[in-house]
Amino acid sequence: MVFDRDGYIWIDSGSRPTPIAISKTQAPKPRPADDELQFGTVFTDHMFLMDYTEGKGWHDPRVAPYQPFSLDPATAVLHYAQAVFDGLKAFRGSDGTVRLFRAAKHIERLNNSCERLCIPRLDPELVLQSFHSLVSLDKAWVPAKRGTALYMRPTVIAAEPFLGVRPAKTYIYFLILSPVGSYYAEGINPVRILATDTYVRAVKGGTGAAKTAGNYAASIFAAEEAKKQGYTQVLWLDAVEHKYLDEVGTMNIMVKIGDEVITPPLSGSILAGVTRDSILTLCRDWGLTVSERPISIDEVIAAAADGTLAEFWGTGTAAVVSPIGELGYKGHKIVINGGKTGPLTQKLYDAIVSIQYGEAADPHGWTTALPAARLTKTAAG
Ligand code: COI
Repeated sequence: MVFDRDGYIWIDSGSRPTPIAISKTQAPKPRPADDELQFGTVFTDHMFLMDYTEGKGWHDPRVAPYQPFSLDPATAVLHYAQAVFDGLKAFRGSDGTVRLFRAAKHIERLNNSCERLCIPRLDPELVLQSFHSLVSLDKAWVPAKRGTALYMRPTVIAAEPFLGVRPAKTYIYFLILSPVGSYYAEGINPVRILATDTYVRAVKGGTGAAKTAGNYAASIFAAEEAKKQGYTQVLWLDAVEHKYLDEVGTMNIMVKIGDEVITPPLSGSILAGVTRDSILTLCRDWGLTVSERPISIDEVIAAAADGTLAEFWGTGTAAVVSPIGELGYKGHKIVINGGKTGPLTQKLYDAIVSIQYGEAADPHGWTTALPAARLTKTAAG
């Protein structure tokens, strides 16, 4: 893939600035109104790209007009799904400042996913520069309405045309941006989830902790079955005993029983959610009792029966903090908090969103404002 360049470069104010060649679109697209935004349906004017070649490392970082890839039909990723991605968001505060939420943590997770999929690690500084350069160039696409954000999807795919099963020798890193509204049609209203004891998402030792394409492909069948029964997503139970909560389709899971906030531990089969980490931190800041421990579906059912099942919610970058109003399991329906958003769920949602939009103090330094733009026309341009 070679893109024409029009002579602009981006120089980040980071500690090891790398000039990034910029080719601007000649045909900017119309931007949707904030009110019309859904999740993942529209994309901004530009994309970031970088190549990896064995023996040369990651090279040729550049920004180009958003456009389709041309891939050889034998490209490894199309056959064996050697691909990882992450998802983070940029928010526009009421003061107009655009802030990224926990960029460094997302980059760390992207590299952990790379390692699990035998993909060469990325230079975190360069990935951060890809975020800064692309979001700065497409800054006008960052929506302002509360509940909207610019979703950022950094992705790495195996690019070598080769049908043998082994790590590829070439890769493409790309970053695309999508202005988004709520992930769920329910918005921030409670969703309904179905615990499945038939299908499993991941086993310990598998790829469950990595954000890799195959995990999502493998989840679709059960998700469709759940939808047919009127549920929003699947609640995965552990793959060995079909007993312990793992995670929900696109979220980590948390439950409040009595005064205890419980979430499954990072045992290797679930994703180390960045929102999960943020919400646990807020709960601990507030002095709540927080347990990262195995929790069985039987414990949840027993708590529902004795009236101590107080709240149930999911956490994720796309889903933010999503209340769960109903849990289905083996033909039973458990309604949580009368099917309404619980007070702690609401408080957590409000707290994290206020930090993301720069409206509340950010004691943990989770948000970073975009650095001052350094888009320069080169002498060659
Ligand atoms: C995210 O929350 O960023 C995710 O990656 C979920 C996505 C698969 C929709």
